[in-house]
Amino acid sequence: MKTYKIAKIPGDGIGPEIIREGVKVLDAASDKYNFKIDWVEYDNGAERYLKTKETITEDTLKEIKQKCKAIYLGALGDPRVKPGILEKGILLKTRFYFDQFVNLRPVRLLEGVETPLKDKGPKDINFDVVRENTEDFYVGIGNRCKIGSSKQELEVIRSLYKVKFNLDIDTQGSEIAYQIGVLSKKGAERVIKYAFELAKKKNKNKVTAVDKANVLDHVYSFWREIVERISKQYPKIQHEYNFVDAITMWFVKNPEWYQVVVTPNMFGDIITDLGAMIQGGLGLAPGGNINPKGISMFEPIHGSAPKYKGMNIANPLATIWAGAMLLDEIGQPKAAEQVVKAIEKVLKEGKVKTKDLGGRVKTTEMGDAVVKKLS
Ligand code: IPM
Ligand code: MN
Repeated sequence: MKTYKIAKIPGDGIGPEIIREGVKVLDAASDKYNFKIDWVEYDNGAERYLKTKETITEDTLKEIKQKCKAIYLGALGDPRVKPGILEKGILLKTRFYFDQFVNLRPVRLLEGVETPLKDKGPKDINFDVVRENTEDFYVGIGNRCKIGSSKQELEVIRSLYKVKFNLDIDTQGSEIAYQIGVLSKKGAERVIKYAFELAKKKNKNKVTAVDKANVLDHVYSFWREIVERISKQYPKIQHEYNFVDAITMWFVKNPEWYQVVVTPNMFGDIITDLGAMIQGGLGLAPGGNINPKGISMFEPIHGSAPKYKGMNIANPLATIWAGAMLLDEIGQPKAAEQVVKAIEKVLKEGKVKTKDLGGRVKTTEMGDAVVKKLS
């Protein structure tokens, strides 16, 4: 029987509870479709960090690279740890290490789910956001400078390229802080190409590219030029440009307009939280950090919700759906499709609802309900 080794990182807060349900559903799906998942658990997260000061080590990442086909992640973040340490030290580090340059976030309103958008239904809310996942302001370089002169050497290392900034800074009048965003030709090309290929694969005929080229002209004019150039390879697919501020308005007003949206990293982060709300809430929004030729990582887009930790009330559906995306990526599209269908059946029936959906069932009961629909 085909066996896949998959790394699982339950993480913090509600992470372990939602991952448990995801594993339950994926195991049921593998039984049904005749393959096996061999889970390899990693305990990276707040607990481990507090004990050892370790986020995730190169050794662990290397081990995952050697052993595993994909990663299933719960959530990271804990009130006892300064914000950013676990997010940057584990989540971003893993995305960058495996060069997961696509963050794929479907925005789809499933049957039976309520959207806050008046008069919109499942037919109107169904598109994919392809977020660049390794560059832009997420490269993490910058600093603060007190009044006076200073020198600074900053570096970005990616598998595609390496760039060094040697800055000579002279500040008068006020202390400052700065942050450098970087887009690379190769980095933009590959994600934009992925978006057009996704449109092609799904028989869609429009790609919308997001930017703020009217203000951040260096990076995002570059982005636009690359979209323009790549689009020439896809004569059957139209393309258009939306400024990021405008697209937040259009997502609310006319979500039915969108098919595939491709966006630089930071704007993608922002607009996908909005996307999650219009598809029924954070409890229903999955995402995949994808390297089409490498190791991808799947997670709900919500955080670790520490105040609900251990209460067995969190909605596991975003995680289960992310698990379906994982199945698709490892080459089990049938099983993937059936998991999403099972989620939709449960929602459509409307009997089993977690707290966020206005019901009272437990996290574990929601997982059971999906398993039942699957079989
Ligand atoms: C997300 C999260 C992360 C991001 C944070 C936790 C670093 O908000 O996955 O959307 O900004 O990418
Ligand atoms: Mn986010």
